[in-house]
Amino acid sequence: MKHRVTFFPGNVTVDVDEGETVLDAAVAAGVHIDASCGGAGTCGKCRVLVEGPHRASGALEGHVLACQAFPEGELSVFVPAGSETRAGKIHSSYASVAPEVREPLAESIHVDMEAPSLGDNLADLERLRCALGRPSVGIALPSLRSLPSVLRSSGWSTNATIARMGEAEEIIEVRADDARDVGAAIDIGTTTVALELVDLSTGKVLAQASDYNRQMVAGEDVLARIAYAEEKGPERLQELIVGTINRLVERLCSVGGDLTSDGCYQADHIKALSIGANPAMTLLLLGLDPRHLRYEPYIPVVHEPPVVRAAELGLRAHPRAPVYCIPGRAAYVGGDVTADVLLSGMHLKDELSLLIDVGTNGEVVLGNSEWMVTCSTSAGPAFEGGEVSCGMRAMNGAIDSVTISNGELRISTIGSQEPIGICGSGLIDLVAQMFQGGWIDRKGRILSDGSERFRNDEGAVSVVIHSGETDILIDEDDIANILRTKAAIYAGCSVLLNSVDLTFGDVDRVFIAGGFGSHIDVANAQLIGLLPDLPRERFEFIGNGSLGGARMTLLSADARRAARSIFDSMTYLDLSSSSTFFDQYSSALFLPHTDLDQFPSVRARLKR
Ligand code: FES
Repeated sequence: MKHRVTFFPGNVTVDVDEGETVLDAAVAAGVHIDASCGGAGTCGKCRVLVEGPHRASGALEGHVLACQAFPEGELSVFVPAGSETRAGKIHSSYASVAPEVREPLAESIHVDMEAPSLGDNLADLERLRCALGRPSVGIALPSLRSLPSVLRSSGWSTNATIARMGEAEEIIEVRADDARDVGAAIDIGTTTVALELVDLSTGKVLAQASDYNRQMVAGEDVLARIAYAEEKGPERLQELIVGTINRLVERLCSVGGDLTSDGCYQADHIKALSIGANPAMTLLLLGLDPRHLRYEPYIPVVHEPPVVRAAELGLRAHPRAPVYCIPGRAAYVGGDVTADVLLSGMHLKDELSLLIDVGTNGEVVLGNSEWMVTCSTSAGPAFEGGEVSCGMRAMNGAIDSVTISNGELRISTIGSQEPIGICGSGLIDLVAQMFQGGWIDRKGRILSDGSERFRNDEGAVSVVIHSGETDILIDEDDIANILRTKAAIYAGCSVLLNSVDLTFGDVDRVFIAGGFGSHIDVANAQLIGLLPDLPRERFEFIGNGSLGGARMTLLSADARRAARSIFDSMTYLDLSSSSTFFDQYSSALFLPHTDLDQFPSVRARLKR
């Protein structure tokens, strides 16, 4: 029996089966509801208002939890602002790269052939292979079936699309027209997914779209997803990520373009896909079981996945389009980090570079053209809005910057909207500014002056950041979580440097990757001890390196070879077995650090 559910705002209707929840209906409808606990009914973030027959447990102030509510007839669901993960500011830009197009993953080649005759009786395929200069290139059976009519209707002047499946090449399409082939560069993040449609002959980005990863209904972080897959199998999560990508393709296909006579792209114009993702996301895209990432010795089924076909994964693209996943070094250092390195170019430089990808896991790479070491710190989701009561992702209504001057706190929000929470860049500013303003001490304890700014509820002290319909407060537990996150990232950097007998002073360049990383204030990040105390000009933001690297590998065999050699040359350091990580981490739990000598400019700033 089906039940019809309509979501507002948006007026999106979907039919669901008996036994499916409102949260399942939301996923099917493409409506994003914050579901941090993955539907376990414990986080309370998926609250919605419902009108119509349903059964639910855990009603809260007139709301129900979408993950615990079951439609029993036609239902209207109202998603309040706090529950909806709105696509306000999903960051998917990256440092610009001159697109080098050399042996892209798929390539359209135009050939002119002599028509056959009694004296020239080469078969159609051999004639095409000869004209392509590839005497043994493979061909997909559907292309072989259409070959005779295409060659004759085009007057022996035709286009063949060659796909590169690893070392092997295959003709996946022959056609009479000269419509260009496009490829898709995709970054699959745990939280968001970004896709660029790229012209495979010029490297130009034709269109871009991003959205939340639908797997979020199975939990916010990677470990929750792995646990979900372990319990219920990877199939549902594979469906969800493929559904997210297919929805993005659909959105871009409705964008006007010049690829077809009706002015729109079509999904089967996508002849190749390149993916940058962390190891769990890569495995889940391929429908592989990620459970062994969770247990010592943390061995995934594969570091360098084989190139597969779009149809094998259910992706909306040409069915035989190659899908290439950038290889990743270790269980928690994936193809997204290889892509960061590729985009930054640190593997080509003699100078010493430190690359930090700030996300739920903080991945760090140190090295130059001769060597590289890497590690992953389980930094926690504080900078992505998790584990902080007022935290939220970077979206409309999020406080993204904070200043405190003469005791006055000023904020700005994304989209200049009424504030509803604080995202990562705002949290860094907030803690830095509160520390500089003397509102908190070096351990992050709140120093109340008894004014209205500070609240004391039975000994629990908090600071009011914004008074409104719902007050936005930060308390000591929140600050402690932020300090834990920044300490893990800084300690990861320190351990890598120590492992090669170097110090932060030896670092010539610091690359900051990750969508989050392109929006932080370096001085404030140094004030809290997240980033090392180095001159501002040594920092470079590369943005979404995973997406940038995916585009590079889509377009160039050299980039794919470079990705392989980066992956091969990185030495992975497992922090869980590092003898010094815990000491480094404990020292970094203070603001900015127990050892102020590591932060001379911060010390001077605090004195001022
Ligand atoms: S309570 Fe419903 S997803 Fe967490």
